[in-house]
Amino acid sequence: MPKAFDLVVRNAHVATASDTFRSDIGIKDGVVVHLGLSLPEGERELDANGRVVTPGGVDGHCHLDQVIPPPARMADDFFSGTKSAACGGTTTVIPFAAQQKGASLRAAVEEYHRRAEGRATVDYGFHLIVVDPTADVVAKELPQLIEEGYTSFKIYMTYDDLKLNDRQMLDVLAAARRHGAMTLVHAENSECIGWLTESLVNNGLTAPRYHANARPMLVEREATHRAISFAELVDVPILIVHVSGREAVEQIQWARNRGMNILAETCPQYLFLTAEDLGIDDSYQGAKCVCSPPPRDSANQSVIWRGLADGTFSILSSDHAPFSFDDEAGKHPNGEQVAFPYIPNGIPGLETRLPLLYTEGVLEGRISLNRFVELTATNPAKLYGLHPRKGTIAIGADADLVIWDEVERTLTNDMLHHAVDYTPYEGRRIRAWPAFTLCRGRVVWDGKEFTGTAGEGKFLRRGLPTLRR
Ligand code: URP
Ligand code: ZN
Ligand code: ZN
Repeated sequence: MPKAFDLVVRNAHVATASDTFRSDIGIKDGVVVHLGLSLPEGERELDANGRVVTPGGVDGHCHLDQVIPPPARMADDFFSGTKSAACGGTTTVIPFAAQQKGASLRAAVEEYHRRAEGRATVDYGFHLIVVDPTADVVAKELPQLIEEGYTSFKIYMTYDDLKLNDRQMLDVLAAARRHGAMTLVHAENSECIGWLTESLVNNGLTAPRYHANARPMLVEREATHRAISFAELVDVPILIVHVSGREAVEQIQWARNRGMNILAETCPQYLFLTAEDLGIDDSYQGAKCVCSPPPRDSANQSVIWRGLADGTFSILSSDHAPFSFDDEAGKHPNGEQVAFPYIPNGIPGLETRLPLLYTEGVLEGRISLNRFVELTATNPAKLYGLHPRKGTIAIGADADLVIWDEVERTLTNDMLHHAVDYTPYEGRRIRAWPAFTLCRGRVVWDGKEFTGTAGEGKFLRRGLPTLRR
């Protein structure tokens, strides 16, 4: 007689975004089918021993194997990136399918499916990056692709090869409104950055640390305000991504006080790094922490913590943008130490996102365990049309689970599974790490080793966003 459950996770201290309760978790065909005490024996048993069990993390912002101008090339493809995600407790990732100028969005989507298929170890969807919103793209391609499950897209207000002008932004926002999709906005003023960069470089100020001087909070504040104004004009919700500090936060709170539906994302780098990590002298080591917007200072870290606790932020994502340091395709383009404008932007963080927030947020009492789940799993799942299949522990949800060990250790890059040769968090003390990660009922990380398989991660055709601020 076959047993009712393929797997029972026993003695779990389950935490969802709203509740915390003791339960066994009965799993059949990769789905949670029963929650209760003293469940009958399953084909397999996993004893959580009273430890905290949360839904698998949903990382709503990471870059994997993204096509970028040479010589830069991302260190992580869909295998190493999703393996790293699994070992850090993330079971769903939403990286980007980036349109190339002059090409269609459809071509981008097909290309990224080729890159992911047979390689992803956890489930994945794609945001689109719209860089060339022609009439055809806006009127035909976007609606078709939204219908097919690509229900969110990112637009850039900076980077010469990616940025849209104001008129193009309005066109894309209007399409999002017509079809119920979510627009992610990278809000930094391109012209201000260009002007500051030129003056710094002309004065010989080219070390990595000047990246922060070229992108002060003002440029983020102005672009955030402009994006909010466009959203008001079109009357559509938007998500401001990777918010770094007080000035952008003030704009978001101002908009909300006016009743607008403006959502905000932040990332671990704005909680755990400061501009000093880009260098206090002209050392090239600072290139490791060059990302945009740049990390700010400790006062701004406090503002971001407050925003996580008080609901200003709806999600916390990694913005994993993997470039190795000692690499001609990474932070040393063509083997050189280059001026800051030529350092590839981005830092790794898929695997460390949850343990860092659990340690410094939950265990240090800055946020509740339920809020941790909401920020890292439930809200991204709702925002990106994956809830309730993803982002919660409930009957009928995918059995994506993390069993947490609360033990102290020192974070080193050797522990991690990405293909990047450093972590910006080297040497930090952390007090939580997944003891087990399960993706649709399969153990993909057992606390010591990655136990998943390339190709087991499935593409997720996503619904429309269901989260409002
Ligand atoms: O520096 C960053 N954030 N790089 C990744 C690309 C982006 O804008 O998110
Ligand atoms: Zn961005
Ligand atoms: Zn990003």
